[in-house]
Parts: sequence; structure tokens; C-alpha cells
Amino acid sequence: MTMNIREFRDRAHQLVDWMADFLEQVETLPVKSGVKPGEILKQLPASPPGKGESFDEIFADFQHAIMPGITHWQHPKFFAYFNANASPPSVLAEMLMATLGAQCMIWETSPAAAELEERTMEWLAKMLGLPAGWDGVIHDTASAATLISILSAREKLTGFASNRKGVGRTPMRVYATSETHSSIEKAVRIAGLGSENLVKVNTKDDLTMDPVALRKAIRQDREAGFLPLAVISTLGTTSTLAIDDLKTLVVVTNEEGVWHHVDAAYAGTAAILPEYAGLLEGIEKCDSFVFNPHKWMFVNFDCTAYFVKDREQLIRTFEILPEYLKTKSRGEVNDYRDWGIALGRRFRALKLWFVIRSYGVEGLQEKVRQHIGFGKQFEKWIKESSDFEIIYPRNLNFMVFRWHPKAVDEDELNKLNRELIERINRSGQMFLTHAVVKGKYGIRIVLGQTYLEDRHVRQAWEQINEMAAELNS
Ligand SMILES: Cc1ncc(COP(=O)(O)O)c(C=O)c1O
Repeated sequence: MTMNIREFRDRAHQLVDWMADFLEQVETLPVKSGVKPGEILKQLPASPPGKGESFDEIFADFQHAIMPGITHWQHPKFFAYFNANASPPSVLAEMLMATLGAQCMIWETSPAAAELEERTMEWLAKMLGLPAGWDGVIHDTASAATLISILSAREKLTGFASNRKGVGRTPMRVYATSETHSSIEKAVRIAGLGSENLVKVNTKDDLTMDPVALRKAIRQDREAGFLPLAVISTLGTTSTLAIDDLKTLVVVTNEEGVWHHVDAAYAGTAAILPEYAGLLEGIEKCDSFVFNPHKWMFVNFDCTAYFVKDREQLIRTFEILPEYLKTKSRGEVNDYRDWGIALGRRFRALKLWFVIRSYGVEGLQEKVRQHIGFGKQFEKWIKESSDFEIIYPRNLNFMVFRWHPKAVDEDELNKLNRELIERINRSGQMFLTHAVVKGKYGIRIVLGQTYLEDRHVRQAWEQINEMAAELNS
């Protein structure tokens, strides 16, 4: 049964109505899917259909078999992990992207996609206050961008010899902390450096990278015959949102002559606020920077913004030119396939463009500011409560806290907080994940969903209190 364009039109209208209804009602749905492992799978036939099925059948199964297994990242009370926020203009752009179905590997395969990417990345660089002369490119994930950064660093250090001959015998070392995201270790492995050459630099008491320890680690390695390659600092770690002090770390990386990549996957968005411009102080002395508009800038997954100081270094690391991709425009335009790993590329700039234009820079700033305000409010409630305490201080719209009924020892507290999170998530009212801060099991809260309003924040605080009281009784 082939869908003709007339039916496509009708079905598309039907789906847009469904989508709008869904967004209006999503806050009434359980945030976290409660299905058991295998529950969805067993409803799906083991073999594909021989003959085409009607759209009514397919859509009915989507509603009955698939939807119960969806965790609602667009629920305003999604407080877990880091958000993967969509927004109405972003979804509309995604529909256009899918309809155009453009594969934007080189300028020639859709000049508008390449030039819109160039322009939107310039806009983002201005919004963040990145140094003049830096260039940006859109990737799928921060994980990919960090791998790209480490590969660029590797080629810089070896004068492009690793691309030709493979990684040499002298181990190259990458420096991060125990708080750094797991994508850094993955990148080190994939880059052929070996995870044993990822050095975990000591942190200060606030879990940020200790610049003194960093310098010592680099010098010791050099003396021992290793090649110090790159430092990865984090603006907003995953567990606690610890924010490394870039301006101090760049002194070390510059003096030691080591590549410096900055992972600001979630918190980078805050730099669009003039009052948080200080987050990026020192960035001009770094080599690359990544943040995810698909986390806190309302562009639906996937959209990662990767910026570099030296675009030639990036392009020389990745360019490869088979006969079938030779074009006349080469050299005059940006062929983004040379700026990363994949040849094929989605037209992601379109949704970024729709979002920035639809909200405007001021609209985006207002939303981010509002979320930070929610964070401050939540922090205040915890500080005023005798039953809860903060175990890692608030940064932006994020903190780690725990329930702390009196006269209970640490092991018992850890157990109680684990039970509390489970109870909260089972209730479907909100979704929270945990962090262990220096042995203390805590509740992480990210107050940053697109549709989050003041009333949801109040309701969440009341419900957390109620559920804790139920556990106590
Ligand atoms: C600090 C940090 N870096 C990197 C990542 C990886 O992001 P992505 O899923 O875009 O690869 C995350 C994911 O949450 C993160 O928190």
C-alpha cells in the first residue's frame, strides 16, 4: 500500500493535530515510562509485513504499542539527566528537513544548507561572545565533537603523521578529571590513544579541575617520556554541574603548550546571558569549544555546536577527496564533510535558524534566565527546610540535594534517598536522577525543560515533600 501525496497531505494534517494535542496534554502523562524490559518487543511481530499496511493500522500501533514505552522528555517536570528540549519552531523545522530530505555533505549538494550553517554558527558565536575568527560547525553530539577535537589535537602534535602512519609508539596523554563525561574516555579509546593514557587530574574540594595538579601531571608525564596532548575542561559536569575555572586552567595549558578543549555540553547556553559571560573567560586561549543547543537552547535533538580557533587544523585532519566528490566550488565554500567524521550530514542548521529567529536572542535569554530563577527558588526552599539539604551547591538551574530526616546515619541516608527517587519516579509525577557526591547519594535536579512554569516547580517541591513524608510514615 503506497502512500500517495494526497493521503500524505491528509495524514500530515492529522499528525500535526495529534502533535499539538500531545504538547497540550503531555504534562498529564507519566514522565517516565513504566514498562518492563521486553514488554514493547513482545508486541512487535518477529518478521516484517510482506504487504503494505494501512496508515490507520500503523498509527494505531504507534499509539498502543509504542507510546507506553516513551519517556516524556518534553514533560515540564522532566528534571533528570540534562534536558533534550524541543520547541514548536524546532519541530516545524524538523518536519521541513525531513520533507526536503537533503543530504548536506558538501556545498554543492545543497548550497543553502552550507551557507545557513555558516551564518547560524556565526550568530551563535556572537551570542556566546566567542573570540573573533573562531569558526563553528554543527555535529550530532558533543561526544562526536570531543572525538573530533582530540583527533585534531593528535594530528597537530604529530604533524599529521598519525593520520598517515598510525599512532606512534610514544603514548600521548589526555588530561581530564574523574568528573568529566564518559564521552572523553570513549574519544581517547577511539582515537587509538588507549584509555590508560587518560590521566585523571585531581579536583579541588568543589570538584573542579585543580590547575596545580594539572601542571604537575603534565610535567611528570613529560619527564617520564609521555607526550602531553590535550586537556579537556568542563563547564558544567554531568553529576554536579561543577564549572572548571577556565581562566586559571588556560594559563597552564598555554604555558605547557597543550591543546585545550572545553566541554560545555549543557551549561554553555548560559553564556548567552551577559551576566554569565564570565563562564567563558579565557576561551580565547583554548583551541575548541562544544555546547549542545539540543540540551538547553530548545533545538530538538540532535544539534551540537562545535567551535574551533584554527579551522585549517580541523579541515586538514579530516579532509579526504575521492574523485566522485570533486567540485568546481571547492576552496570557495564550506564543504562541511571535511569538518568532521561523517560524510552524510543532516540539514540541522534549519532548526537552529528557526529557533533563534522565533525566540530572538532576547527571548532565549529570558527563558534561560527564568530557569535560573527557578533554580534559585528551589535552592531557597531546600535551605529553609529542616528535612532537606543541599549536597552540591546550585550552579545556574541545577543542584544536588538530599532528604535528611534527623538522627539517621550516612548509610541509611543513602538508602532512603535511593528509595525516595524510586518512589518519585514510579509516581509518574516527575523524573529525577541521582548523583553520588563524595559518597553521599543525592538527588540531581535540572530545572530547564522548555515548558516548565513556576507552578510546576512549586508542585514538584510539594510532591517531593509529600513523598518523603510518606516514606517516613
Ligand atoms: C558534560 C557533558 N559532556 C558531554 C555529554 C555528551 O553529550 P552528547 O549526548 O551530545 O554526546 C554530556 C551529556 O549529557 C555531558 O553532560
